[in-house]
Amino acid sequence: MAAMLQGRRILLVIAGGIAAYKCLDLLRRLRERGATTRCILTKGGAQFVTPLSVATLSRDKVYQDLFSLTDESEIGHIRLARECDLVVVAPATADLLAKMAHGLADDLASTVLLATDRPILVAPAMNFVMWESNATQENLTALRQRGVHVVGPDAGELAEGESGVGRMSEPLAIVGAIESLFASGPLKGKRALVTSGPTYEPVDPVRFIGNRSSGKQGHAIATALALLGADTTLVTGPTRLADPRGVTVTHIESADEMLAACRAALPVDIAVCAAAVADWKPRDRRNQKIKKNGSLPALELVENPDILATLSAKGSSRPSLVIGFAAETENVVSNATAKRHKKGCDWIVANDVSAAAGTFGGDANTVHLIDEGGTETWPRLPKDDVARRLAQRIADRFTRS
Ligand code: CTP
Repeated sequence: MAAMLQGRRILLVIAGGIAAYKCLDLLRRLRERGATTRCILTKGGAQFVTPLSVATLSRDKVYQDLFSLTDESEIGHIRLARECDLVVVAPATADLLAKMAHGLADDLASTVLLATDRPILVAPAMNFVMWESNATQENLTALRQRGVHVVGPDAGELAEGESGVGRMSEPLAIVGAIESLFASGPLKGKRALVTSGPTYEPVDPVRFIGNRSSGKQGHAIATALALLGADTTLVTGPTRLADPRGVTVTHIESADEMLAACRAALPVDIAVCAAAVADWKPRDRRNQKIKKNGSLPALELVENPDILATLSAKGSSRPSLVIGFAAETENVVSNATAKRHKKGCDWIVANDVSAAAGTFGGDANTVHLIDEGGTETWPRLPKDDVARRLAQRIADRFTRS
């Protein structure tokens, strides 16, 4: 196991949610990578994991009480807040995020979070209605603007049996986000957002409208940006690919979910839309499986939101560099140039997706990069090389300006 986090001191705040159980695995993974770990367990957190298991896995005592005479005389909450390189809050409950956003300090965890001058990474976990509520989203926006890093949450089945966005990211995804925070490179200090893969538009509980995008190009771009030091979020539809290391990954299915996840990732400096978003979705999602009853079902379609155009729209949260892809089967450069204007993005990467080109699902890609200065045609390259070259171009653009 590469000791990517050798010598890094991580203070893990475990708040009260069922996802707290994943922290035990997270602690193990952090230690495997060479990090030292110290934990604060909230009252709620202690309902889900025991202080003994946390202490055993973190190889330290567990801090629980703001007014503990022994703890305060031994280390004190201010030292606890500062003697680390990063504070990680996992799971970050709606309650703790609200306390952080408002500067409350009524227990050890919230006091340390207010007192720390170290970077903070939160991994939210909650019911999807709580996640989508204006209160939580406004708190998150405030925290992001103050520089708090966020990983997840993912979409999927939640503990209550419902499904939606709200599941805490898996421990390896949290480790990836931590590693990228410690990474260095020409894009260090920049935040990047990449969309990847197809979207699935639900028809009924078992059927969907989708496409054959593999996500290879988008995932490779996210990896390449993270390797150059960008704090990178990948919003991806369903693919067979593993989550790239060092990247914060949000898994979604539909275009609406992709747009919501992209919005939640703002503000960013760089946005790369490599996803093959389904252009249309069924107007109504049936709650029950559509049965065969002699007549063909009428599927009424409506247009999906255009994520690239939305991110490119003028406004205070517009990323300073927005890059789109143009999947074309004919007149590749002229169609892509028109698309760049229509969508309002800065650069467009045009690729030929006709069957003969073998781009969809394949490992190589012939692209043209179209920017304000004109068109560059790149040789046929493996998708990983296209990604590295694009990431380097992005880095050059930022080091020039
Ligand atoms: N895109 C998006 N949201 C959509 C549709 C497309 O963000 N609802 C983005 C893609 O990620 C890509 C770019 O827009 O970066 C162009 O996608 P493409 O499929 O080539 O273009 P469309 O807008 O779908 O236009 P058309 O299918 O008519 O060529």
